[in-house]
Amino acid sequence: MKVGIDKLHFATSHLYVDMAELATARQEEPDKYLIGIGQSRMAVIPPSQDTVTLAANAAAPMLTAADIEAIDLLIVGTESGIDNSKASAIYVARLLGLNRRVRTIEMKEACYAATAGLQLAQDHVRAHPDKKALVIGSDIARYGLNTPGEPTQGGGAVAMLVSADPQVLALGTESCVLSEDVMDFWRPLYHTTALVDGKYSSNIYIDYFQDVFKGYLQKTGMQPEDLAALVFHLPYTKMGLKALRSALPLVDDAQQASWLAHFEHARQLNRQVGNLYTGSLYLSLLSQLLTDDKLKAGDRLGLFSYGSGAEGEFFTGELQPDYQAGLDVGLPQRLARRQRVSVSEYEKLFNGQLAWRADDQTIDVADDPHRFVLTGQQDEQRQYLDREA
Ligand code: COA
Repeated sequence: MKVGIDKLHFATSHLYVDMAELATARQEEPDKYLIGIGQSRMAVIPPSQDTVTLAANAAAPMLTAADIEAIDLLIVGTESGIDNSKASAIYVARLLGLNRRVRTIEMKEACYAATAGLQLAQDHVRAHPDKKALVIGSDIARYGLNTPGEPTQGGGAVAMLVSADPQVLALGTESCVLSEDVMDFWRPLYHTTALVDGKYSSNIYIDYFQDVFKGYLQKTGMQPEDLAALVFHLPYTKMGLKALRSALPLVDDAQQASWLAHFEHARQLNRQVGNLYTGSLYLSLLSQLLTDDKLKAGDRLGLFSYGSGAEGEFFTGELQPDYQAGLDVGLPQRLARRQRVSVSEYEKLFNGQLAWRADDQTIDVADDPHRFVLTGQQDEQRQYLDREA
């Protein structure tokens, strides 16, 4: 039985900052951000969006009434959640109008958690093929203004519907995982921005990729050439390129050229959004599938998921005949239509998020066009609005 990703959708904000403009404001060469980091635009998440609204905005457009009826598992992977106790998945389930008999949990392991969710969802559907699982990676990447990590911020959510006979990608049952206690990136409870040893984390990422990629090939007997393309977690798109380059010595010149050409498609949309932590690998998958017309049904893709701290996993999936039908086909146009904000507007929005305080707060949602918005906090409870309710 084939099980895997049946539908794949994405949501971010309607605002972005231009990376060349940000570089100039930070007294850096624009090419450092555009080429050295590999980012052109960075999503600016306004105070009216949080990981709950981003998740609901990603999933709602792709779900039919039949999907909603069949979903009995909702997993939200996030490392920028809004509560230390209650799962964001509970809010998301309510906003999406899911069945009350749904199991709802939030998972955390830095940028890796959505992959853990996807694998658990796969096992769940294999055990209950008439059911569907919804897995969402939703995050706002915040390193802080004027920090080295600033050009690798961004945010958004990717929603994946997991089912039997999936339209998009049939997942393999084998994978190779590595997890060890590494202090490359973390966020103590009292911090709103991440602590990171940037260079160290980039090196660990490559080490993990090498370990689980080679471990996967050894375990399955698969050859590197069996993989039409490699898709990476992209905290910034140069990171994936570095990992890909580290794999090139394993294949001949023609395969190297092919992987490099496919990678340009895999990073196209991430280049316009920036980091979204848990959803980043899956935005790259969407980018690959939406923009790369050299791929065809039956092609096997290799996926590398990485979460600092650290955990990595390499797994593969086979493209299905109707894969375009399950994708968020309007996404490239939506990203192109976003509104540019200046660096000072971005800084104001960055600092304007709901404060971690107990008092009632109101957020102006007038300029936010999304269906689900955060309107503020009352009696220490976040207030969400569904504009279609
Ligand atoms: N033109 C082209 N490239 C340029 C350039 C220019 N004018 N100026 C600098 N660069 C290149 C550098 O050579 C470097 O490339 P390399 O990594 O291939 O050597 C790149 O731009 C970044 O420059 P660097 O000086 O290393 O940047 P930095 O010290 O400001 O930090 C990060 C970069 C990624 C470490 C930092 O943004 C960060 O900490 N990010 C968050 C951590 C992260 O995302 N980790 C990934 C694992 S999850």
